[in-house]
Amino acid sequence: MVRIIAFFVGLGFAGVLLISFAFGAVAYFQEPPPPSAEHEYHREAKELHLASNGPFGKYDRAQVQRGFQVYKEVCAGCHSLNRVAFHDLAGIGYSEAEIKAIANQWQTEVPSVNPDTGEAATRKAVPSDHFPSPYANETAARAANNNNLPPDLSLMTKAREGGAAYVHSLLTGYQNQPAALLKQFPTSKTPAGLYYNPYFANLNLAMPPPLTGDGQVTYGPGNPKPTVNQMAADVSAFLVWTAEPKLENRHRAGLTVLIFLIFATVLGYLSYKNIWAEAKRKVALKGPLDPDNKARRNRAKAKAGIAG
Ligand code: HEC
Repeated sequence: MVRIIAFFVGLGFAGVLLISFAFGAVAYFQEPPPPSAEHEYHREAKELHLASNGPFGKYDRAQVQRGFQVYKEVCAGCHSLNRVAFHDLAGIGYSEAEIKAIANQWQTEVPSVNPDTGEAATRKAVPSDHFPSPYANETAARAANNNNLPPDLSLMTKAREGGAAYVHSLLTGYQNQPAALLKQFPTSKTPAGLYYNPYFANLNLAMPPPLTGDGQVTYGPGNPKPTVNQMAADVSAFLVWTAEPKLENRHRAGLTVLIFLIFATVLGYLSYKNIWAEAKRKVALKGPLDPDNKARRNRAKAKAGIAG
């Protein structure tokens, strides 16, 4: 009896679901959602080839250092890297002395306390400090950016779909709003203080184009020309490193584990062969468990290479 009641209750639920699905489907086709500018004009990130891509990728130290230079000279004016310390730069090839100098000359000082008066103060950065925000606090950051907060960039390439490719596309993607867009969506004009960029999810972002011209940063001899595209790729490579400084260790460990597993599989197969060889011989000589099964015995004999 209980079963029958449960069956009908279940049937009731399933019926209600089915009916609401049918109503939803009819409504969708009768009145499809209106097209939006975001839906029509948003673009996926362009492909970006970096040496760190792929399961065995390694950082291109020279490129990551150039990217750091772009961050330092352009992005650090608005963005912090509060998960990365100056001394972490050793991981991309800077010496201890260079790191000390970089920290000492950093454009923004870090918060501190005046030892005599106990009042809030600032001091020069040291290698153990993290890359500070140029703003005293969130309110100051918003005040300086049209009420928008420049996000911390430490984990940005992990936080956005597309990672480094997205950052690269975003930095090189600023353009005028297409006339066709305005024609189709007259109310979607880019508001004052925002900038049109088809790679940004809602097409208009508050960051003014940070890389505006070739040669904005001067690279040392032996490096590629600092075109906007090159600087954008370099700073994206740098932000891959800030988000995962131990990527190379992970890739190395993965490779070692893979080699070990292949080796263990071969060993396992050989020992399987070895252990069962004797058992198969015995079966062939003495006959299978079921002595009446001649066909089986003959098969076993043939397999073990025993005549007769
Ligand atoms: C003038 C200040 C300023 C500078 C300089 C600047 N940014 Fe930004 N950035 C912003 C602001 C403000 C936002 C927030 C935009 C928004 O949410 O609309 C932002 C957002 C971002 C985002 C996040 C976009 C998203 O998907 O949410 C990335 C990535 C970024 N900036 C990278 C950079 C890089 C790389 C540089 C250096 C080449 C740089 N920015 C230089 C102000 C700046």
